[in-house]
Amino acid sequence: MYRKRSIIDHCRHIENVFEGCDHLTYYAVKANSNRELLRLISQEGLGADIGSKGELYLALESGFSAQRITFSGVGKREDEIAYAIDRDIGAFNVESKDEIELLDQVAKRAGRSARILLRLNLDIDAGGHGYISTSLRRNKFGVDWQQAVSVLKWAQTLRHIDVRGIHSHLGSQITKAEPFVTSARILVDLIKQLRREGVIIHELDFGGGFGVQYRGFVSHPQLPNEEPDVTNFAAILAKDILPLLKESGCCISIQPGRSIIAHAGVLLVKVLYHKETAEKVFVVVDGGMNDLIRPSLYNAYHQIVPLEISGAPHEKTDVVGPLCESGDWLALDRMLPRVDCGDYLAIMCAGAYGYVLSSNYNGRPRPAEVLIDGGKCTLIRERETIEEL
Ligand SMILES: Cc1ncc(COP(=O)(O)O)c(C=O)c1O
Repeated sequence: MYRKRSIIDHCRHIENVFEGCDHLTYYAVKANSNRELLRLISQEGLGADIGSKGELYLALESGFSAQRITFSGVGKREDEIAYAIDRDIGAFNVESKDEIELLDQVAKRAGRSARILLRLNLDIDAGGHGYISTSLRRNKFGVDWQQAVSVLKWAQTLRHIDVRGIHSHLGSQITKAEPFVTSARILVDLIKQLRREGVIIHELDFGGGFGVQYRGFVSHPQLPNEEPDVTNFAAILAKDILPLLKESGCCISIQPGRSIIAHAGVLLVKVLYHKETAEKVFVVVDGGMNDLIRPSLYNAYHQIVPLEISGAPHEKTDVVGPLCESGDWLALDRMLPRVDCGDYLAIMCAGAYGYVLSSNYNGRPRPAEVLIDGGKCTLIRERETIEEL
């Protein structure tokens, strides 16, 4: 379930930060690729950052213009590159010399040139879970930033490659300003060096990764007190990052995903059973890791709120799904008001990396998606049926 107003507000909030600055915000489609939500975001004037042919197809179908699309990813296949060149997308964020060579060949065959930004690995530890940290030297992403000058000088010699700029993406759910500030400094200094070396840089794509609040999103006297983990990424962007990036004299772009869509979404689950063992209280619900894998995969925290808040006593609870894995949980040892069979729970801030990471594991059809606009509910994706499995 998604709230339309939240998505619009988050898009506008970001755009306001950039007011008066030559920029482009590319929504990271991987965070949530529901076509209706993409349509909404494209109508807000954002571009799209895509990571596959499928995401490119969805973005184009949902109204994003090709020129406002960037293609990111460490493993683009030849057919994906050809498809994107054919549609004349804005730029490719490239991650290796092999990829640049392939791009040159495919562009040559198409009689075009491909605009590129070189993704750099800045070897910065941005904190957070290792699986969503992408800019350490040991990670597969980008080219070592110390090699930027030589790689880009070489790329400039290729006839079907048009070097436009540089790019970095540190990771996801980064809640502190410091890693962003460090990376901004490195990138701006590097642009100065590249220009001295004769590499013309027009665009600096700063990536995404801006962290959002997950804890204490809803507060109520009858809910357990949850310390909010408030992060105001828009303020960090405006105050700490943008002034540095502007020194580059480039068009600045960013690729936010989570920070646009996370807060808009809620996963609704129904309590199937309340079960007490010698060690634990389990609340077994009808949604699990196949619907929302973030807790199991990243140990991620989602606030859980009963749909009807009562004065029920609080108890320490594991909220678990129906799947045949002990890793199938939505919350562990969480203080929650006592709930019983038939009650509903809202798993908060589930708009990003929720449905897109869902699966049919254990023969379970995916849930429906609904868009809420004031008092109006629109079904924006049908619930899957067993026949579709
Ligand atoms: C290249 C790239 N850009 C943007 C994003 C979006 O990140 P986030 O949703 O944390 O803003 C990602 C996701 O990790 C990514 O890999």
